[in-house]
Amino acid sequence: MYRTSSVFLGTFLLLLLLHGGMGLDNGLALTPPMGWMSWERFRCLTDCKLYPNECISEELFRRHADLLVSEGYADAGYEYIIIDDCWLEKNRDNKTKKLVADKKRFPNGLNPLADHIHNIGLKFGLYQDYGTNTCAGFPGVIKHMQLDAQTFADWDVDYVKLDGCYANISDMAVGYPEFGRLLNATGRPMVYSCSWPAYQEDAGEMPDYTSLKQHCNLWRNWDDIDDSLESVAQIMDYFGKNQDRIQPHAGPGHWNDPDMLLLGNYGLSYDQSKLQMAIWSVMAAPLIMSNDLAVVRPEIKDILQNRVCSAFEDLKIKVIAVDQDELGIQGRRILSKNQIEVWSRPITPVVSNNQHSYAVAFVSRRADGAPYRIVFTLKELELHNTAGYDVQDLYDDKNHLGVFRPANQFITRVNPNGVTFYKFTAL
Ligand SMILES: *[C@@H]1O[C@H](CO)[C@@H](O)[C@H](O)[C@H]1NC(C)=O
Ligand SMILES: *[C@@H]1O[C@H](CO)[C@@H](O)[C@H](O)[C@H]1NC(C)=O
Ligand SMILES: *[C@@H]1O[C@H](CO)[C@@H](O)[C@H](O)[C@H]1NC(C)=O
Repeated sequence: MYRTSSVFLGTFLLLLLLHGGMGLDNGLALTPPMGWMSWERFRCLTDCKLYPNECISEELFRRHADLLVSEGYADAGYEYIIIDDCWLEKNRDNKTKKLVADKKRFPNGLNPLADHIHNIGLKFGLYQDYGTNTCAGFPGVIKHMQLDAQTFADWDVDYVKLDGCYANISDMAVGYPEFGRLLNATGRPMVYSCSWPAYQEDAGEMPDYTSLKQHCNLWRNWDDIDDSLESVAQIMDYFGKNQDRIQPHAGPGHWNDPDMLLLGNYGLSYDQSKLQMAIWSVMAAPLIMSNDLAVVRPEIKDILQNRVCSAFEDLKIKVIAVDQDELGIQGRRILSKNQIEVWSRPITPVVSNNQHSYAVAFVSRRADGAPYRIVFTLKELELHNTAGYDVQDLYDDKNHLGVFRPANQFITRVNPNGVTFYKFTAL
């Protein structure tokens, strides 16, 4: 978990009590899960002769677990190592009907890998699919749900991502909760990541969010992310346009999931990388990287680990701390005009007159050259605390802007396809 203080924990337990009964009651994912997953970067590469360092194999996950620790990501809060699709044999075991990990690529089965991941202090996640087949065509859980839930527990899985390919969409609202009950019945706590709203929305059906948050710790709302700014922007637009109906359902133990972080791959520039990291944190998104941790450039690693201007030690002002804020309130796009957007999230500390602090991201979707000057009064930014706010740059902790009150103007310059990101601490 991201560094906790006892005050932090106390507030946490209080929140737990307040939220009891509203969400899935397995005690997990009280802040958005953080970790690493194979899909976006490594897809379904299975030819280990041709791509020895990239194929979906025990070696890939061992190496990334080790890198998560040795490269400092674990210290920053990244915790889960998650196997996505393409880890299975094409057939179940003919006698026991159990799922079997690919015998060439996972020659020892999954237990030794899980042991290694646990031994170095991390947690182990695994992908499956609610339908007859996974999206890449390997066997799905539908006819063997109880057996598979128990198999996951036997393999010491801590996190299950259940996809929805090759399934009957109208069965999902019943079937996903049923699989959740079977996971629970094993007695092993497992984070449960659901995909049923993404499939329902794709088919033009409205997901039942009340049911979702009772049965899942997180859920994919919409399309898969691809390695481009365009894909990031489409996801931002989905979350912006649909925020009235999806934002209220996020909270400790139950999160909307806009999909993986692209940072460290091919598609995003330095500024665009800061943009995805900032907006995902405003959205209280799971921070699940999908990249080759051996080759992430230092300046991108600094964004992922909040080491930008590492001289300042107060972690409370940093980007990951926004994502992991203990209130668990998802932020919203509050302004969108002339390709300029403002995204804002209420966070701690909350002061005595019940005024929140805020993390505010200024986004430029413009590409017309020079950094774009943005001017708003704090009132326009929905910042109404009369005592004002102390403002700190979340990406440059030497940049302390001082105190602003509701009538004051706030001025920032944003690079093309970039972001500036500030914490407004209520006074
Ligand atoms: C298991 O069954 C499948 C199809 O039912 C068959 O293709 C495969 O050869 C069998 N495997 C073994 C080891 O008997
Ligand atoms: C999907 O499930 C519904 C309800 O159980 C059923 O009426 C329908 O025929 C099913 N469709 C398919 C393609 O299996
Ligand atoms: C199973 O569900 C019960 C009731 O919601 C909960 O108290 C318990 O912690 C859950 N156990 C696991 C292993 O998820």
